[in-house]
Amino acid sequence: MAQSFPVTRGCPFGPPPEYGRLREEAPLVGADLPGGRVWLVTRHAEAQQVLSDPRISTDPATPGHPMAALSAEPPAPGEKEAGARFRVGQFIDMDPPEHGVYRRMLIPEFSVRRIREMRPAIQEIVDRLIVDMLEQGSSADLVEAFGLAVPSLVICRLLGVPYADRDFFQSRTRTMVGAAFDDRQESMAAAAEIWDYLDGLVAEAEREPGDNLVGRLVTARRESGELSHDALVGMMFLLLVAGHETTANMIPLGVLTLLRDPAQLAGLRADPEGWPSAVEELLRYHSIVDWVAFDRVATEDMEIGGQAVRAGEGIFVLGASANRDPRAFERPDELDVRRGARNHVAFGYGVHQCLGQNLARAELEIAYRTLFARIPNLRVVGEDDELPFKYGGLIFGLHALPVAW
Ligand code: HEM
Repeated sequence: MAQSFPVTRGCPFGPPPEYGRLREEAPLVGADLPGGRVWLVTRHAEAQQVLSDPRISTDPATPGHPMAALSAEPPAPGEKEAGARFRVGQFIDMDPPEHGVYRRMLIPEFSVRRIREMRPAIQEIVDRLIVDMLEQGSSADLVEAFGLAVPSLVICRLLGVPYADRDFFQSRTRTMVGAAFDDRQESMAAAAEIWDYLDGLVAEAEREPGDNLVGRLVTARRESGELSHDALVGMMFLLLVAGHETTANMIPLGVLTLLRDPAQLAGLRADPEGWPSAVEELLRYHSIVDWVAFDRVATEDMEIGGQAVRAGEGIFVLGASANRDPRAFERPDELDVRRGARNHVAFGYGVHQCLGQNLARAELEIAYRTLFARIPNLRVVGEDDELPFKYGGLIFGLHALPVAW
């Protein structure tokens, strides 16, 4: 019998328990979703193969795309039309060559050098948030006060959102991201407000392009004539969505994981040079995105890991399984902050590999390092089984993390 899917995590520090069995069974396993059957990719080598094969599409409009199979119900009337507005410029859902037109314009904005230049600004944001937390007492919800706030303020800065608009921008972003699966209407309404806001920001840059990301894109577009105004707004929107919830979930989850492992945390405090490697390991260990970004469909008949896959068959790559594959990592279920796990697929692989990965690494490293240095007696209030983990969410993390010092 085929596996049912999706399955949830059984513990906050590991992938769903079924993944280990599925991975040993085969590199590709058939799964029954409410709307049909798809392939699950369980191993690291085949995950990289699928994510880099040009015959495999990520475009939701390609027949057989697996996202549609997640629900047996057709979309509610009007939902498709309402959602269409937010799909313009979303190159994460495009195949080459169209995908490259968009991505290439943004690559210089996320280069190692550009992110290095952003580090003092990220440090300033992190320092300010920690000072605010300390001034407000001796306890806080680390998700609200820190995890959500760091990426939100960093993205404001990246997109050039003026200081006066930050409260509006942050609150709308939170509603859009937080309510995405509980209250779709509220989330869509917040998304529309953000879209309108970004529309204004792009229009302003079109009148007078500044020396910032939006200004540079407007100028590049004028020169190449490749992108419409709406496509630019869509790209800004994608950066906000892709860069926000991911980082916001990783920050508190990483803090909890290290507080539960005092020996490895002490090692990092003693040798801060170890933080970049720890960040990679935490990304591998938690694989918070798991399969949700890895929705693909074969456009030709092919063979993957000895399995025949037909054109039009949907595929989900299980990132959380690939990142625990013993064929790729020694002692994969152990957290080892010194292993230097750069070959993980937590940022994906191939043409869609996370565009913001250098920024995400900088944010996580600065957030963890500074928090543990500035609040040496930081502790979690409550046991793991009392903490509100997002077991049902599409991206794993915590709804709240009560901490005290
Ligand atoms: C811990 C933080 C993050 C994680 C785990 C993460 C994960 C991912 C993954 C797995 C993909 C690949 C999707 C696919 O294969 O279809 C991706 C793509 C992407 N990410 Fe990230 N991401 C993070 C942070 C960020 C940040 C901070 C930004 C920018 C502000 C960003 C922007 C993007 C964009 C634009 C794409 C689409 C790339 C493309 O399709 O060419 N991400 N991310």
